[in-house]
Amino acid sequence: MISVAGISKSFGNKKVLDEVSFTVEDGEIFGLLGPSGAGKTTLIRVLTGQLRFEEGEAMVMGKRVSQLSGSDKKQFGVMMDDFGLYERLTCYQNLRVFADIYGVDDAAIHSVLSEVKLQDAQKKEVSKLSKGMKERLRLARALLSRPKVLFLDEPTSGLDPQTSSEIHEIIRKRKDAGTIIFLTTHNMTEAEKLCDHLVLLNEGHIVESGSPKELCLRYDHQKRIEVEKNDGEVLSLEVDEGNVETTAGRIAEILRCGELRTIHSKEPNLETVFMELTGRELEV
Ligand SMILES: Nc1ncnc2c1ncn2[C@@H]1O[C@H](COP(=O)(O)OP(=O)(O)O)[C@@H](O)[C@H]1O
Ligand SMILES: [Mg+2]
Repeated sequence: MISVAGISKSFGNKKVLDEVSFTVEDGEIFGLLGPSGAGKTTLIRVLTGQLRFEEGEAMVMGKRVSQLSGSDKKQFGVMMDDFGLYERLTCYQNLRVFADIYGVDDAAIHSVLSEVKLQDAQKKEVSKLSKGMKERLRLARALLSRPKVLFLDEPTSGLDPQTSSEIHEIIRKRKDAGTIIFLTTHNMTEAEKLCDHLVLLNEGHIVESGSPKELCLRYDHQKRIEVEKNDGEVLSLEVDEGNVETTAGRIAEILRCGELRTIHSKEPNLETVFMELTGRELEV
């Protein structure tokens, strides 16, 4: 559905995307995870035909992005920071403007308002909405045309956990209805919870890719087991080839004494994976 092969993009003499390649499969939520300045927004602008690039090729829905027509682009839903809302218009009126552009009817507006839970606020002026409500309205605008591909640039950035999880739920439902989701994030918890496949981007380079679980297991060099005893003491036991017997013995001893409360393996998270690969943190 989306394939990117060797894309490079420079601003002046600064290369911000350097031979980036990946493919996005049907029916998945694809996440581009990287810190601020990694090149995420630039890549979305390339894929949606808003920005030219020097090298490589990008295809979306079987077409080169440089050859996308206006009607092809109507099949995309795009949510980005610089696609603003009309502050003086109501929620309904904002969507009405875009409904006319997309050629969708009033029923589609009401359906999308209820999808993002803004039906009660439809007559409210945008300037009077909370940040979370504005973000849901921006999402509604991207969903309005029933797009085949949804591009979301940091859809929950700066939002409270409640609004973020509401937005995640809306995204998942669209995925279940067959929409391809391409999103960017610098939030590893979001990436872990929401995405089926991830590409880790740092300074315009892809440093890793895979499902969140695959990535964490791939970098699970220091296998650890965490044992909590009944008295609350927590032991973090290393398991490598050299000490399996010793570790097993210690766990057996705790079990024998009836002191074992919980036991689980401890895998690295995406933050530690990213740190290992790049030496830097995702969120600063
Ligand atoms: N229009 C532009 N002109 C010059 N430099 C830009 C422009 N847009 C982005 N950049 C630079 O490209 C790099 C990547 O930016 P961006 O794609 O916005 O990163 P991200 O979305 O991951 O934070 C940054 O160093 C940024 O300053
Ligand atoms: Mg960005």
